[in-house]
Amino acid sequence: MKLPIILHPDPRLKTSCTPVADVSDALRKLGADMLETMYLAPGIGLAAPQVGIMSRVVVVDCMNGEGDTPRPIVMLNPEVVSRSDETSVYEEGCLSLPDQFADVTRPAEVEVAWMDLDGKANSEVFRGLWATCIQHEIDHLDGKLFIDYLKPLKRQLITRKMKKMKRELARA
Ligand code: NI
Repeated sequence: MKLPIILHPDPRLKTSCTPVADVSDALRKLGADMLETMYLAPGIGLAAPQVGIMSRVVVVDCMNGEGDTPRPIVMLNPEVVSRSDETSVYEEGCLSLPDQFADVTRPAEVEVAWMDLDGKANSEVFRGLWATCIQHEIDHLDGKLFIDYLKPLKRQLITRKMKKMKRELARA
């Protein structure tokens, strides 16, 4: 089921999320719905607060090139356990800020630990777009958006544009 995506600014996007305790059918359904919502958007990552669920759940799949084999991952309680000193810059966007993009510098490589939908502990080192995307999604769980890395003027400009977009959507 496709879920409605919350647009910035919204207090839910500024709130820290609660850890998931146990895997449940409801959580499996949420994971499937979030993946469907992400693919349809289309996007490469989505965090639960973006669909109004204040739990530490993200979905990612950065195999977005033509001919790539999809690799959907549902991460429960994801955590960056180590990060490289080396950084990389990607132009980031966000499904909660449609049409807004900006360069963000982050560690180029991160080791991420998470629980999967079988309740199993996982950890893996991610680099490139995967590393950026997963860090972006984990930030959402802490109420942080990619625009929080920008200079205040640029952030305010994007927020003004988003407020205008939301007013127009509300009127439509
Ligand atoms: Ni985002």
